[in-house]
Amino acid sequence: MNYAQLPKVELHLHLDCSLSYEVVKQLNPNISYESYRESFVGPVKCTDLADFLTRAINGINLMQTPKELELVTLDLFQQLKADNVIYAEIRFAPLEHQEKGLSPEEVVQIVNDATAKGIAETGIEARLILCTLRHYTEEQSMKAVKLVEQFQGTMVAGFDIAADEAGFPIKEHIKAFEYARQKGFHVTAHAGEARGADSVWETLEHFRPSRIGHGVRSIEDPKLIDHLREMKIHLEVCPTSNVQTNVIDTIQDHPADRIYQAGVSMSVNTDARTISDTTLNKEYTILEKEFGWKKAYFLKCNLEAIEHAFVGEEVKERLTKKLKEGYMD
Ligand code: HPA
Ligand code: ZN
Repeated sequence: MNYAQLPKVELHLHLDCSLSYEVVKQLNPNISYESYRESFVGPVKCTDLADFLTRAINGINLMQTPKELELVTLDLFQQLKADNVIYAEIRFAPLEHQEKGLSPEEVVQIVNDATAKGIAETGIEARLILCTLRHYTEEQSMKAVKLVEQFQGTMVAGFDIAADEAGFPIKEHIKAFEYARQKGFHVTAHAGEARGADSVWETLEHFRPSRIGHGVRSIEDPKLIDHLREMKIHLEVCPTSNVQTNVIDTIQDHPADRIYQAGVSMSVNTDARTISDTTLNKEYTILEKEFGWKKAYFLKCNLEAIEHAFVGEEVKERLTKKLKEGYMD
């Protein structure tokens, strides 16, 4: 089946891990394609998540001025268009873009404006998720969550925690997620990737997210799988990324199909289009080839993604209609 033409929803996508060669070349005209591949695209197998994350630095270095941030955001919209994405939630950590003097507020404003422009240019609906990072201090994490507050009513729709799950505990971030809960923000959190089910339990208890980024290692605990299903917690599953970060040995071992069959709400995502050299079209093709997934499976995942999207009912209804039309034979 050719998935290229099917409409798709993507909830888990890092802006700084998704720079195309075109935009990198525009920002650094001296770079060759070979050198781009070498530094921006990761090996098929990294040692672990921390090793994988070292590849993101190249993207972040090229996202330090208003022009760079704008071009990288608009470039991502072109990639989403090529993948026939109709709704995307794009995430990034605003505090990582201050090397040339931009304030975090300016960073969010620039990406927010570029997102509005991208939506107008492509017709793709989109929202932004602001990330704190595992290695941040409590103060930095609070700064990140307060940016979500400052940008309420814009394209900013939620809060997340990313980076090295295995290397840093959640302690410094509990206050920021409590703040997010008090304010009623939409929240997702990376967990159950570099660590197992205990990390997902801990994340659910202290951060209270409606979705989990990855969460695939929940499969190691049947009680947790039951809990996720009962509480309707949505897993943002990113198959290629999990093999690349060495969380899962091979794609044949990936629990995506077992999670789906267990009735847990899930979606299919790329995570890092450049580092993982992937698209949703490729991810869908992999799931079809390895697990015999059919069109109906992808429709279900996309409908569940919309149900758990950080966007209002009106937009959800419009996207749901568009999706159903796209999957009709
Ligand atoms: N996990 C944590 N942080 C990340 C990831 C991931 O898979 N991708 C980009 N930042
Ligand atoms: Zn991620």
